[in-house]
Amino acid sequence: MIRAAIVGIGGWGRNLVAAVQGRSEQIRFVAGATRTPEKAADFCRQHGISLAASYDELLADRAIDAVVLATPHSQHCEQIIAAARAGKHVFVEKPLGLVAVGYNWRFQPALVEARRMLEDARLGKLLHIEGNFCGPSAYRFAREHWRHDPAEVPAGGMTGRGVHVVDAMLYLAGSPIGSVFAQSDRLVHDFGVDDTTSVLFRLRSGATAYLGTVIATAETWRLQIFGSKGWVQVGDVEHLHTWELQRCFIDPQDVTRKQRPELVTFPKTSTERAELEHFAKAAAARRPLAVPGGDEVHNVAVLEAIVRSAREGARIHL
Ligand SMILES: NC(=O)c1ccc[n+]([C@@H]2O[C@H](COP(=O)([O-])OP(=O)(O)OC[C@H]3O[C@@H](n4cnc5c(N)ncnc54)[C@H](OP(=O)(O)O)[C@@H]3O)[C@@H](O)[C@H]2O)c1
Repeated sequence: MIRAAIVGIGGWGRNLVAAVQGRSEQIRFVAGATRTPEKAADFCRQHGISLAASYDELLADRAIDAVVLATPHSQHCEQIIAAARAGKHVFVEKPLGLVAVGYNWRFQPALVEARRMLEDARLGKLLHIEGNFCGPSAYRFAREHWRHDPAEVPAGGMTGRGVHVVDAMLYLAGSPIGSVFAQSDRLVHDFGVDDTTSVLFRLRSGATAYLGTVIATAETWRLQIFGSKGWVQVGDVEHLHTWELQRCFIDPQDVTRKQRPELVTFPKTSTERAELEHFAKAAAARRPLAVPGGDEVHNVAVLEAIVRSAREGARIHL
């Protein structure tokens, strides 16, 4: 059992705790630290988590094996370095780095199946991926909230939402991204971050992809993956993940005959629990999860290229 501490007990930190507390034999949250402890006191009491006075106090506690960072983006780097110095395993919320990063979409059974269909050639050669991840984030937070700060949230919905779609593209395609062309604008508010961002990608494999992330509209996400034998589609409006997949294949006997998509369903799982147990198993075995040059690092390079492309109005090669 990995004894973990939650750092940053806001919306997502609480979600991560609730996904495993009392339900997992691999990881348990025993302690926590957050900027305003009064706001988190009731939650910690309910979940048997002792609140430390500071992050440094947590790091000095030898009864804690791992820290799970769910703090604003600009703090991740310093907090990771401090935790590594203190000899703790580190799980960090996206977007970032060379540690276990919170890309929970990889644990959706429907996306795992879509990747399997590319690997075993049921979908044929990967040609194109369309993705979007949108919602009303721009309306949810008060003006002074960190999510309205362009330094924390460059290229609008990219850090909060779009990075998940890019990670899914990398996971599905098994190929790095070669170039990006991005447009990003603020069309609704007269303050804060961009609300309408779109990107064209060319993968090194030759496949193409595009992504839209609009954070001043209703909630939705969708990925449609086109291969030379057919397509699959996943997405939802209510949940951050799905347990359904639609698939549609060309009839090799008669390519002109239109096919109805078939719906495949999967058992409901918690992607947050799956990602934290995956982390706990690796920590217990002292096995690194991310490797130099892996998708986590490439995703950061892609994000930086998107920010630059939107600023310069030019295609950026990675
Ligand atoms: N994987 C996903 O689907 C997903 C979904 C949502 C968010 N996230 C990620 O989760 C992270 C947190 O986002 P959120 O939506 O939970 O934000 P949030 O609700 O604003 O929570 C952030 C928390 O961090 C605390 N905090 C701020 N500075 C701190 C510091 N120096 N030390 C310790 N705690 C500090 C805040 O304290 P106060 O209470 O004082 O403000 C708050 O409790 C981000 O990286 C985000 O991208 C991931």
